[in-house]
Amino acid sequence: MQAYPQRYTVTAALPYANGPVHIGHLAGVYLPADIYVRYLRAAGRDVKFICGSDEHGVPITIRAQKEGVTPQQVVDKYHAIIRDSFVDFGVSFDIYSRTSSQTHSEVASGFFKKLYEEDKFIEQTSQQYYDEKAEQFLADRYIVGTCPNCGNENAYGDQCEKCGSSLSPTELINPRSMLSGNQPVLRETKHWYLPLDQYEPWLREWIVEGHKADWKANVYGQCKSWIDQGLQPRAVTRDLDWGVPVPVAGAEGKVLYVWFDAPIGYISATKDLLPDTWETYWKDSGTKLVHFIGKDNIVFHCIIFPAMLKAHGDYILPDNVPANEFLNLEGDKISTSRNWAVWLHEYLQDFPGKADVLRYVLCANAPETKDNDFTWKDFQARNNNELVANLGNFVNRAVVLTHKFFAGKVPAINGELQTIDLEALAQLAEFPQRIGELIDNYRFRDALNELMNLTRVGNKYLAETEPWKLIKTDEARTGTVLHVALQIAASLVTLMEPFLPASAATLGDMLRLEKGSWQAAGRPDALATGHEIGAAALLFEKIEDTTVEAQVQKLLDTKKANELANAVAAPAKEDVSFDDFGRMDLRVGTVVAAEKVAKTKKLLKLTVDTGLDQRTIVSGIAEHFIPEALVGQQVLVLLNLAPREIKGIESQGMLLLAENADGSLQLMQPGQHVQPGSHVA
Ligand code: 2FM
Ligand code: ZN
Repeated sequence: MQAYPQRYTVTAALPYANGPVHIGHLAGVYLPADIYVRYLRAAGRDVKFICGSDEHGVPITIRAQKEGVTPQQVVDKYHAIIRDSFVDFGVSFDIYSRTSSQTHSEVASGFFKKLYEEDKFIEQTSQQYYDEKAEQFLADRYIVGTCPNCGNENAYGDQCEKCGSSLSPTELINPRSMLSGNQPVLRETKHWYLPLDQYEPWLREWIVEGHKADWKANVYGQCKSWIDQGLQPRAVTRDLDWGVPVPVAGAEGKVLYVWFDAPIGYISATKDLLPDTWETYWKDSGTKLVHFIGKDNIVFHCIIFPAMLKAHGDYILPDNVPANEFLNLEGDKISTSRNWAVWLHEYLQDFPGKADVLRYVLCANAPETKDNDFTWKDFQARNNNELVANLGNFVNRAVVLTHKFFAGKVPAINGELQTIDLEALAQLAEFPQRIGELIDNYRFRDALNELMNLTRVGNKYLAETEPWKLIKTDEARTGTVLHVALQIAASLVTLMEPFLPASAATLGDMLRLEKGSWQAAGRPDALATGHEIGAAALLFEKIEDTTVEAQVQKLLDTKKANELANAVAAPAKEDVSFDDFGRMDLRVGTVVAAEKVAKTKKLLKLTVDTGLDQRTIVSGIAEHFIPEALVGQQVLVLLNLAPREIKGIESQGMLLLAENADGSLQLMQPGQHVQPGSHVA
């Protein structure tokens, strides 16, 4: 018998409340955490699932500044959006709290104070950039300047997004404040540092010797390389006016660094959930603490937070930190600023009631060991070929045939079970443990694959026994077959639930069966003979080409909008003299007729009323304008361009057009109607 921990505290990274959540968040953190927790609950383990919004730090204040609102307004808005998305996707937190809460402020302050009073910090004064106009010290992200490595003029104080190099603010050439645009000055400021270097021997022993075997290779590798590079003291306070105030005298205008307060948010949320018993979940050695995070959070959860917990002394340490790699979208990195994402709340507007489909696809393709790519084609294929054709088809056949041949009542086993029945039931019995072990070991993709293997067992059984044909010759044997098939379907109610909770509930309704314990799943007697099942309902439905094409088009539109927004104007041409310019006769004209030039793709023949005459102009704009729509439009014309013959037509001038960065064209037109022939100068 395997010994399990007495209880589990499972946390999922607190998302910054500075924007909605997208598929990368769900695939990387919240979905695996939710599958894990739902499974633990079904297996009867004592577990608390903790999360909340990370509402402090510079990402929030920057967003507030961009939107022209207060930081509190930003976090109120996004906390609600994020919380609702998690509910809609069935992420079953026991609490979804927030770090702007009173409890959190008290717990985080108390944590800092204990370390401060026990001299666990070092105080250090350093020179930092200060904006004299805005009268405040500048966080790294509030300073922009020229990157010393690539010359990018808009590099941030902590990183150049063009060449990817990590920077410190003093390395920037010509630094300027994002608050006032002024050049900041260096000023002395005092901060408190956690001396990570002092914890290095302990961290090395705890991670390198203690967790080499059980932490994921990507997590262990990142930790080891950090430790091998040598750890430095880390400042845990900042000069900022948004955050938990530093609770000691002489620290006015300073707050706890967001990465100091955020992980303490797991503790304060647990306290909000369980005011009387929260300590058992954080201080009792019988508790297994597991942090689900994305790979960008590894160092904070595996090195810095454990060092904080160790320094404090009262708390348990994480047993595992099963961090995932990143999910890309259609071959490109997911990016909030470039709007290159599938936002969870938008997905549900386009695919109402289909949260489980996304859960399925993201788990089947989860970035567990390497970065992975989400594509709409794969989404469609997995839905149609796996959920509809495999899982849905099996359940549907078992339920529909039971209604058709046995009035919706579970038929009895008649006579001896045959080898094929016994084999199917023997296979069924093995799945709960096999799937459970994979989940216990954070192998969610493999676990889901095993779940689908069980539905394959069911489909193969029906394909080989053919109850739809058998009924014509042997009703009793048909009853046995459907009895066996229904027991497999019944076990799915429990085994599907961690992955596809809404569909598992629908299946439960169909079979009129409550989900049972994990241990009881796989038994051949979940449905008693004579039990009346409910009506058949479709678990999944086919997704058409046009539906996913619309999603791909949405992304193409985003890409185009980004290209336009980032387009750099072409360099200026050489100077021309005033006289040269004056020789050009530019006029306003009105298009009176337009038609395509036969046998060409690009050319239009226009007749333009120039005020002097009606003349023909041939223009290469046929791919951009419908001829009829041009008639009546006013245009700007270069009148005295020397006539030239194009496809046998004499063109007597040129239309002026603006070309967008994406190659699309727009007519240059006067803002309001102007007499044809008017000069343009
Ligand atoms: O990376 C992030 O989105 C952070 N807000 C995660 C914080 S996790 C924890 F420490 F709270
Ligand atoms: Zn650079």
